[in-house]
Amino acid sequence: MSLELTAPAPDAPDVAEDGVWLADIETGETYAPFDEIRYTGEGGNLLEVRYAEPPTFEDFQGQGRGVWRYRAALPFEEGVTLPEGDTPLHEAPRLREDVGVETLRIKHEGMNPTGSFKDRGMTVGVRVAKELGVGRLACASTGNTSAALAAYGARGGMETLVLLPSGKVAAGKIAQAALHDARILEVDGNFDACLDLVQELAARGEVYLLNSLNPFRLEGQKTIGLEILEEFRDDYGRFPDRIVLPVGNAGNTSALYKAFRELVQSGALDPAEVPKLTGVQAEGAAPMVEAIENGWADTQRWEEVETRATAIRIGNPVNAPKALPGIRGTGGTAVAVSDEAITEAQRDLAREGIGVEPASAASVAGLRKLRDRGVVDAGEDVVCLTTGHLLKDPDAAFEAGGKPEPVPNDLDAILDHIGAN
Ligand code: F0G
Repeated sequence: MSLELTAPAPDAPDVAEDGVWLADIETGETYAPFDEIRYTGEGGNLLEVRYAEPPTFEDFQGQGRGVWRYRAALPFEEGVTLPEGDTPLHEAPRLREDVGVETLRIKHEGMNPTGSFKDRGMTVGVRVAKELGVGRLACASTGNTSAALAAYGARGGMETLVLLPSGKVAAGKIAQAALHDARILEVDGNFDACLDLVQELAARGEVYLLNSLNPFRLEGQKTIGLEILEEFRDDYGRFPDRIVLPVGNAGNTSALYKAFRELVQSGALDPAEVPKLTGVQAEGAAPMVEAIENGWADTQRWEEVETRATAIRIGNPVNAPKALPGIRGTGGTAVAVSDEAITEAQRDLAREGIGVEPASAASVAGLRKLRDRGVVDAGEDVVCLTTGHLLKDPDAAFEAGGKPEPVPNDLDAILDHIGAN
């Protein structure tokens, strides 16, 4: 099967342009990358971008920092940029000690220009939109994708339309979409319903779809995996054993797996060196965990989903057919965590000075759970991905954190209040 970790590099078909083409992941059917707007293959199968020349680490040397350092792994030399990527790989010594692993690093994607990893996908996706000459850009979103699309669309001088589940998007994210001047449609339904609707709009030619169903978005998101590998190798002379990440639509899981597959194809990475992709979902929205536990080839849609981590309040992960082989092919797993455990992990990270939104903290909550169960070994080198910034969801931060204390406008009263008198 084409998504196997050790599948050989494909030969370029006639439809390839500059060594780049699109392929249906189920049938292998190939398509020219920019001749027409196409999001899926026949019958709705997922597409992926393929390259005649998969990248090596040498290709990235001397190419600057951030997403476009990895242009050898991308369909263009440059994109619509703010710029994005080059996020910190924090140490978290107390948390590492407490969880009990050999190494723990936190890849904080909340440090991207709009505060989430989505910027990495949009710098490529909006570039493709320009190539295709489309008018209006659109997405369904739990918030972060809409913030990124609004900002990158604005940067590219294009109109944007976002469909959001009414009442379920964190304040910071709507504020971003509003200020960057996206047209915001609040839908009386959950994220999955919004995605169904925006796919219909795209099918009718009304909008260009920039959800992670769009295979070009995932190309940009591959660079998270490439950065982690390079940074970890520079610090320790080896690659991490495991990468733990929150899962919603499973776009990131798919993208990281693709980054690793392409390095294996070029011979830059040994299959045994590929980190175990480990996905974490909230208990109230865990179709990927269900599919992994039951050995299914695809997820079953959850109609009812609920979690405080609204970014991953998703019942129908569209990228599951790409992500499930990734989790299995790397020897990883998937686990569900409670909202309470997510909030506790958010506090754990905050105590290390790392401010994240709830969905991001799911990665740390999942690692703790898997370590407690003995699935993760004490000797492992682990990287947790934190996907969004604390300020995305100020209400969740207030709830998880300490409360302001009202005091009189008087020094003595304040000294009394803090116990200094
Ligand atoms: N973490 C955050 C902060 C997110 O915003 C998302 C997805 C995920 C994790 C899950 O990533 O879909 O690649 O598995 N947010 C999308 C949005 C759905 O609309 O902003 P995934």
